[in-house]
Amino acid sequence: GAVVLGALLLTGCSPSQQAITFGDMASGYNREIFWMSLWAIALSILIFVGVSWALFHTVNRFREDKHSAPPAQFHGNNRLENILIGVPVLIVILLSVLTVRSMARLNPVPQTAYKVDVLSKQYWWNFSYPTETSEAGGVIANGNELIMPTKKLVALSMTSQDVIHGFWAPNIGGQRHSVPNAVRTWNVQTDRAGVYQGNCTQLCGASHANMRFKVIALDEARYNSFLATARAYRAPTPAPGSAEERGYTLFNQGKPETGALSCAACHRVQGTPAAGQAGPDLSFFGTRRTLGAGMWEGQRAQEMLHDWIKQSPVVKPGSLMPRYDGGEYLVNGKTVKGGTLTDAEIDDISAYLRSLKLPEEADYWRDTP
Ligand code: CUA
Repeated sequence: GAVVLGALLLTGCSPSQQAITFGDMASGYNREIFWMSLWAIALSILIFVGVSWALFHTVNRFREDKHSAPPAQFHGNNRLENILIGVPVLIVILLSVLTVRSMARLNPVPQTAYKVDVLSKQYWWNFSYPTETSEAGGVIANGNELIMPTKKLVALSMTSQDVIHGFWAPNIGGQRHSVPNAVRTWNVQTDRAGVYQGNCTQLCGASHANMRFKVIALDEARYNSFLATARAYRAPTPAPGSAEERGYTLFNQGKPETGALSCAACHRVQGTPAAGQAGPDLSFFGTRRTLGAGMWEGQRAQEMLHDWIKQSPVVKPGSLMPRYDGGEYLVNGKTVKGGTLTDAEIDDISAYLRSLKLPEEADYWRDTP
């Protein structure tokens, strides 16, 4: 009841970008739930009024100053009992029909739905677009920034690699658990282009609070153009002797003499030999505006990139990315020693990562404040 009331109160608020709007009516999912809840609330109010009236009426009618004698005493009243059983049964049937109707409207995945695979891991989200395979091979994927079209159903197929996580982006639909060894599919939708906040809502470990994501809803034409451009994208070849080229080499080869693992062991960059699957796909890293599964955004994300590469498990507890300052960190309860890169080498890798940019017309953050 309180939840629905909260949704009602907040529905009228302006949908400022990047704000969590509880019960955002731009989403068909939320509209369906809203109208169904309205029926439940209306019936509850009716019952409350009826019961209150009966209570006050009875108390008033049989006040002692009106009746010196006790009221008539009797046992059994079939008509009254039939009403008392029949009315609640009818209410339960009505609510069941409404619920089943909403489920039938929300759940089937139509052929026309766009599909996105969602994979949750401690502590980040992988979004891949299974209808589109990149020309470099492999599926187009993006970490922690879910890109979707507006005014179309988007079927999310979700599973978890480790523990149970919670996918929650209330502007586009309800909340679902992401469960290991099970794929759950459901539809989300929004009518309005914009950027929406998502969070993990299931306590899942040290960085549960740092397991955020963005939903970027684009007009359908722009979404399709993003997919087409992303499909054709190949990482630019760094100029010889540039910082990007040094970064590219470190990224793909690491620095074995100091124990620094290559980034490519865990990360994929479309159109390059880097094909790791353990960490986020970095093909469009330069286009992304968030870092560390939404821990930092915009300018702050830029500033944090150096520290992120240098000591990810320090700035984000539980991060499985190695340390590159030679320090120790925990992997599944075991202490592991990281490799070493110099600050200049880390800057070279940063320069390479920033160069991994989609062409301007496919920049899904474009036009976003
Ligand atoms: Cu994942 Cu909390």
